[in-house]
Amino acid sequence: MLVSCSLRRSFVLTHSIDQSSAANAAVTFDFHFRSLVPADGGALHALVAACQPLDANSLYCNLLQCSHFGSTSIGAFNPSNCLVGSITGYRIPERAETLFVWQVAVHPAMRGRRLGSDMLHRLVQSLNSCSATDSGAPPVRYIETSITLGNEASIRLFAGFAKACATPISRSVLFDKTEHFASTHDTEYLFRIGPLQSESFDEITSTGEIS
Ligand SMILES: CC(C)(COP(=O)(O)OP(=O)(O)OC[C@H]1O[C@@H](n2cnc3c(N)ncnc32)[C@H](O)[C@@H]1OP(=O)(O)O)[C@@H](O)C(=O)NCCC(=O)NCCS
Repeated sequence: MLVSCSLRRSFVLTHSIDQSSAANAAVTFDFHFRSLVPADGGALHALVAACQPLDANSLYCNLLQCSHFGSTSIGAFNPSNCLVGSITGYRIPERAETLFVWQVAVHPAMRGRRLGSDMLHRLVQSLNSCSATDSGAPPVRYIETSITLGNEASIRLFAGFAKACATPISRSVLFDKTEHFASTHDTEYLFRIGPLQSESFDEITSTGEIS
């Protein structure tokens, strides 16, 4: 399988999470990935606050994400057990085969090392592994998320995932700047990826162009 079932992955980083080490000093981090639990709520709240342009939610909302949606979310923890990356998501109630990705956050000091992409692959893989065994939930066949057009890193992250899975990615308006946000927020576009095939995780091929 392309995406390892292992919950650990080593990174060679050029600076530490608190950026206190000398610039460009190589530091090897061994990250640990797992679902989110209520005790992660405070760390998630702080991470999201450090990851503009994400909307900051209330701590209560983050606690609910880590409770009710913890199993459809993932966190990346450094060796000091600090949360340095997260994806929060949930299965859309009427369409349980669709995972809605609510927010992706990678600490600014950890970006550009494919941590965001890695978490997305691991999350989908773990959900499909669980559903195949004991959860009774259907496999995730579609991923949806909303992105503003100025967020190039996020668009590239999801386009790259679609490409890796050799499946289409489409775009439409989800919440309009004028109609839904009273001009206080840019239009949120719905990006929909799928269908995902089980063999999507066996090899990387093809073209996930945004249509
Ligand atoms: C978006 C975000 C999660 C990406 O995390 P990351 O770990 O740095 O991303 P990756 O290293 O996995 O890179 C994924 C893709 O984005 C591209 N990318 C990463 N940072 C980028 C940037 N600043 N500008 C443009 N492209 C960027 C990478 O080149 C890669 O594209 P590729 O596969 O075509 O090479 C991170 O930048 C972040 O937390 N941003 C703030 C919060 C946010 O906007 N979240 C997304 C909306 S929910």
